[in-house]
Amino acid sequence: MYVCICKGITEKQIQEAVTSRTSNNPKDVLKALGIGSDCGTCVEDAIKTLLEQNARTPIEMKDSSNNS
Ligand code: FES
Repeated sequence: MYVCICKGITEKQIQEAVTSRTSNNPKDVLKALGIGSDCGTCVEDAIKTLLEQNARTPIEMKDSSNNS
């Protein structure tokens, strides 16, 4: 199922990005996929999908700009 119509990003692609751990920061995952870079209506659903997948595949969900 498509989450981001503008970029043609599916729920599965988000799940795979979380599973592959391309980043520990959810914002980076969305940015890498281009989610929300056009109309932005997909961001809420994309974050929900990302958090659901993260619950199944725990990663450290911290802001990478806060390295303290
Ligand atoms: S649907 Fe994702 S930016 Fe428009």
